[in-house]
Amino acid sequence: MKLSEKLYYVGVDDVKLDLFESHFKVPGGMSYNSYVIADDRAAVMDAVEKSFADRWLSNIGEALGERKPDYLVVLHMEPDHSSGILKFMERYPEARIVSSQKAFAMMKNFFGNDFPERRIAVSEGDTLSLGGCELSFIAAPMVHWPEVTVAYEKSGGVLFSADAFGKFGAIHGRDVTDVGEDWDSEARRYYFGIVGKYGAQVQALLRKVSSLDVRTICPLHGPVISHDAGRCVELYNTWSSYEPEEKGVTIAYTSVYGNTAKAACHLFGKLATGGAGPVAIYDLARCDVAEAIGDAFRYDKLVLASTTYNTDVFPHMREFIEALALRGYRGRTVGIIENGSWAPTAARVMKELLSGCKDITFADTEVRIVSAPDGETFLKLDALAEELSAKS
Ligand SMILES: Cc1cc2nc3c(=O)[nH]c(=O)nc-3n(C[C@H](O)[C@H](O)[C@H](O)COP(=O)(O)O)c2cc1C
Repeated sequence: MKLSEKLYYVGVDDVKLDLFESHFKVPGGMSYNSYVIADDRAAVMDAVEKSFADRWLSNIGEALGERKPDYLVVLHMEPDHSSGILKFMERYPEARIVSSQKAFAMMKNFFGNDFPERRIAVSEGDTLSLGGCELSFIAAPMVHWPEVTVAYEKSGGVLFSADAFGKFGAIHGRDVTDVGEDWDSEARRYYFGIVGKYGAQVQALLRKVSSLDVRTICPLHGPVISHDAGRCVELYNTWSSYEPEEKGVTIAYTSVYGNTAKAACHLFGKLATGGAGPVAIYDLARCDVAEAIGDAFRYDKLVLASTTYNTDVFPHMREFIEALALRGYRGRTVGIIENGSWAPTAARVMKELLSGCKDITFADTEVRIVSAPDGETFLKLDALAEELSAKS
């Protein structure tokens, strides 16, 4: 698909994938993006997953017609982008491969070959002229792998951003610059699921590109961002600085017999009518946890409600809090609801699990349920709702 006079989208869709990275649900499939810059010299920007290499090579052929690519530029070595490299190198024996030293070291490890006769190693500040277009390379270490480089093409104001600004969901033959669906939800789930641990590194990258006139972002997954690049950069700035996007509450609960669930639902009802902002509720045993993680970062308040389980907290709750802590969760107000039939410990454990997170303020109202919520519990839940609403 032609994006501009010299720029083509040559990516592929994986619509049968069950779990991206064996972890994240992708009901809308996944795209592996690649681009062709057809200037005096032609560059292919990144590869695709190897099972889709034939389709990708055919897309490249369609974009270039009789011409052959001069370069394959590899910005990121994760196999969903890089495992198709070998097929490209066989198909186009004259082409040279452009990448960072760290990426070439990874090629050796992944493929047993780092293409010593055909390689051009680039580092931050280097440029590659294609004629009228020129790629400038910018190191983006740990966004979210160490070898990651992004490339900026000045004449078109295009940032090839590697996995940054990626989104779950395939293109499904739609216009890749306008897939007609909300970007934020699946981009947020992708960001906090995959990149979220590396907020400082994303901030460093945003600082580096802040002086550039970025009009189009070409990520390695999801749509090309051409209409509202500034807004997406602003969202990335919010996410990577761990600031909440808006006032609101995420309630995350676990429940074996339904009593903690009943309390969580009561709180949801109170908060939804109480002016605390939007409220999201998740049963951690059944929901898409990546979505719950995304909403925990999205809103400024979180309520954790859990059954006590073998003098610990319920396993799904432990995993959830550990996932938040691993991603640098901080700067939020947290309400706690615990349940136990003989020796409740869930509240203590949940607080301990959050103890490494910076700037967490626990709500004054803590709710303890002994087996099933009673009249006193509901009053406490109402008080918690009031306290959280008052903080809005
Ligand atoms: C396997 C298992 C272990 C439990 N361990 C504890 C425990 O260590 N301390 C406690 O007070 N209750 C314990 N409980 C009881 C539950 O925490 C308690 O019944 C609670 O009210 C269940 O809430 P729910 O209806 O939301 O599932 C345990 C329950 C199960 C199923």
